Order: sequence, then C-alpha cells, then structure tokens
Amino acid sequence: MKPFPKKIICIGAGYVGGPTMAVIADRCPEIEVTVVDLNADRIAAWNSAQLPVYEPGLAAVVGRARGRNLFFIGQGDGAKKMAEADLVFISVNTPTKTEGEGAGKASDLRYVESCAQFISEHARGHTIVVEKSTMPVRAADTIKRILAQNSHGGSFEVLSNPEFLAEGTAIRDLEAPDRVLIGGERPEPIEALASVYRRWVPAERIITTGLWSAELAKLAANAFLAQRVSSINALSALCEVTGAHVDEVARVVGSDSRIGPKFLKASVGFGGSCFKKDILSLVYLCEFHGVPEAAAYWQQVIELNEWQKRRFADQIIRQLGAAKGKVAVLGLAFKKDTNDFRESAALDICRQLLAAGLEVVSYDPRVDFAAFCQSAGIARGMQPAHTVREALSGASAVAVLTEWEEFRSIDWASMSLVPNAVIYDGRNILDPEMIRRANLLLHSIGGRDSD
Ligand code: NAD
Ligand code: UGA
Repeated sequence: MKPFPKKIICIGAGYVGGPTMAVIADRCPEIEVTVVDLNADRIAAWNSAQLPVYEPGLAAVVGRARGRNLFFIGQGDGAKKMAEADLVFISVNTPTKTEGEGAGKASDLRYVESCAQFISEHARGHTIVVEKSTMPVRAADTIKRILAQNSHGGSFEVLSNPEFLAEGTAIRDLEAPDRVLIGGERPEPIEALASVYRRWVPAERIITTGLWSAELAKLAANAFLAQRVSSINALSALCEVTGAHVDEVARVVGSDSRIGPKFLKASVGFGGSCFKKDILSLVYLCEFHGVPEAAAYWQQVIELNEWQKRRFADQIIRQLGAAKGKVAVLGLAFKKDTNDFRESAALDICRQLLAAGLEVVSYDPRVDFAAFCQSAGIARGMQPAHTVREALSGASAVAVLTEWEEFRSIDWASMSLVPNAVIYDGRNILDPEMIRRANLLLHSIGGRDSD
C-alpha cells in the first residue's frame, strides 16, 4: 500500500463532496482529486463560473484548484479514473427510505450500494474506500460485502470518515475543523487518510476510533445538536406565556461552561437535509436493536420541532383571522448563507399559510423560487418578490424565517406595510425599537409581544 494517497476520487458532487474535495485539492496540490457524479448538469455547473452550491469562500477555493489538481467529471469518465485511484470517498445522498423495511425512518442506502458496486467493478490493485456520507452504524458491512464481489483480484479497506461541516460555514469548517474523525479496523489505512488531513489539520484534532463508533458518533453529534435546538424551542413556548424571554434564559444557561452557548438560539424550527433524517435513522436503529425507550427519546426531538413550526404558522393565521390578507415571508433557506432549502421551516410554514387561504409573497436572496415551490408541492398562491421592499408592500403580517443579515437592518419605517401589521420574528434578529418606531407590532419567538 502506498503510504500517502496520490490519486483520490470522490463519488458525489453535492454540498459535501464538492466543497470537501475542493479544500483537499487546495491544501494538497500534489494529490490529484477527481469528483464524479451521475448528474451531468451538476458536473457542468462545477466546471462553470456558476457553482451549484452557494457557500461563502467556495468560489475562491475552487478557482485555485480546478484544472490544476481538482477535476469534476461525469460517471462515464469515472470508470477509468477509478482504476487509478488509491482512495475513494463515497459522498452520495443517504435520504430517509420511502418504501420497504424501515420506510419513513431508516436510511436509504441504495446510492451508497451502487457506488460500492461501481468501485467493485472498476477499481484495480489496493483501494481504500471511505464513507464520507452519513451512514447507519454497521453500514460498512454492506459496503464490504459488495466490494468482495470484485473479480479483478482487487483488495479493499473500508474507513468511516463522516463530515461535520455545516452549510453556510462549510469552507471555514473544512479549513479549521473542530475535529476530523477516522474510524477503521487497521492502522495502515487510517494512517494513509490521516496523512492527507495532517497537511492542514493539527494532529491532535484527528480522532481515530473503531468503524462502528465513527458511524454512530456522526449520528450522535447531529442528534445532540438538534436536541439542544428542540430544548430551547420547548422553553420558548413557556417564555411566551410567562413573560420570561428565551434569549435571556439561553444566555444564562449557555454561560455555564459545562453547557456552552452554541445551538441555544430559539427559532422557528431547525431545518436542513440532515438533522431530521439522521435522528430518524437513529430512532430506527434503536428500534431495530431492541431499545424502544431510546427511540422514543430521540423521536421527541423531531416532534417538538414539527410542533414549533406549526405553532408559529398558527399564530399568524389566528391573528389575520377571517380578514385574511397578505403575508410576507422573508427567507426560504434553512439558515443564512446557503441556497439550500431542504427541510427548511419555510416549506411547512408556507404550505400551512396557503392552506389557511392567505396570500403569500416571499423573498430570499439565494433560493431558487421555482425549485422551492416545486419541492413544497405549491402550485399556486405564492408569489416571488425580488426585494424586501417589494415583499413587504401591502403586507398585514411578516414572517422572518431565515436569519439573513440584510433582514437585521430593514428600515421598517420606510416600508409600506398595512397599519398595525405584525412582524413575526422567527429568528429573534430584529431590533424591537426599530419596529416600535415604525408603529408596527413585533412577535418574537419566546419573547413578549412588541417587546
Ligand atoms: P447531495 O444530494 O447534495 O449530493 C449527493 C450527490 O451524489 C448528488 O449530486 C447525486 O447526483 C450524487 N449521486 C448519487 N448517487 C450517485 C452515484 N451512484 N454515482 C455518482 N453520483 C451519485 O447530498 P449532500 O448534502 O452532499 O450529502 C451527502 C452525504 O453527506 C449525506 O449522507 C449527508 O447526510 C452527509 N452530510 C451532509 C452535510 C451537508 O451539510 N449537506 C454535512 C455533513 C454530512
Ligand atoms: C448540521 C451540523 O451542524 C453539522 O455539524 C453537520 O455536519 C450537518 O448538520 C450535517 O450532517 O448535515 P447544518 O444542518 O448545515 O449542519 O446547519 P446547522 O448550523 O447545524 O443548522 C441546522 C438547523 O438548526 C438550521 O435550520 C438552523 O437555523 C437551526 N439552528 C441552529 C437553530 O434553530 N438554533 C441554533 O441555535 C442553531
């Protein structure tokens, strides 16, 4: 086995594969990094000036490495590259299963399995196969079984190297990670992968574990983060009826060094492609392995989140009552600094507002409006606005669903909302004084109305 990989392939050019490989190529100019994807449009976009993923700093990293030692190619050209690769990352989607055993909870490994099949057919010599996608614990068994069918006398090692980047801060997270996790069964392949990361990550931040611990630790980390958001959101409802303010409560709780301040921001509910699916996967694993009590515990993190989204939309619907009227939705992305709206709170809230007969106009600086409506199953009733001003014009209520910076500094007094319009701040980012001076009413999550 070569001690330091020279040729890396990544299967999957999505939100993880693209940025992660771009940073590896940027930091390791002597390694050739090739990213393969079935989706020809996505590959074309990675090779263009209009990258398919919006991430601060990404364009600069791609600009430095693309065409030098970073390449994006289609599946057809991937077979030849696979034969030369020392190390292959699997970075494809692992969504929740929609049919069959475990439907609605278990992870769908069909894309991972087809990658293993592709590797098994085309790899030559000795290849390290790395799980970069988030997998259920013991998924490596499935991968190993498929790789064993290889008929070219190839040999394989399987490692788990889950990714912890968060969207919107992906480049920062990849360039200066809290930790890199490598799970494996033998020291040599772990060392080969660690030698890549050591080019820019301090050695003490590279944690090595067994395969199964690495797979489970990734699910656990997401479950813990989401559980904190659900905990503070549960408190937000109590704050609203007692006069306490959730931001003050969070500041006090988070100043305990044993707890820490991060992931205690009350919100309209967490979104994103991973928290829900990874907790559901954990719930399924608990049920499958005979620990239903643990399954029920984690399931409640999701239930609370669904309730928080419903509760927020219900408040707007109740306020507008029979008068109906126009609601301006500010923000469709699941968080700021990304064009990603997968599982975004806005999907559920817009659907709920429309079902109540309200007119919805939305503005988001990065999200593709048509793609959002298609994904939400919204055929009509929702209109796009190209600016905040256009969205707010004539609105009786405003729902701030994403914490985009530009929403913090809206000059409310200069907007033409209907008199006494209510601003529902689903992110607690607005300045109550500015809203009051504009003679508007403010409802913040876990706060006092118009406080
Ligand atoms: P994504 O949907 O953006 O990208 C996956 C890509 O894989 C798609 O472009 C798809 O066309 C491609 N693909 C699927 N099957 C393929 C195959 N057989 N051959 C070639 N290409 C194939 O997904 P993502 O957000 O990048 O997530 C990928 C994995 O990383 C998931 O398991 C996810 O849980 C995990 N993860 C995601 C994030 C995140 O921030 N999005 C962070 C950490 C971990
Ligand atoms: C999350 C994790 O933070 C990453 O470590 C992980 O790699 C990734 O999932 C994954 O596996 O996909 P991401 O979903 O991109 O990253 O973004 P987060 O910053 O975690 O935010 C998730 C959701 O929680 C967002 O909707 C955000 O607005 C919400 N949130 C977050 C809150 O409502 N309050 C908070 O205090 C923090």
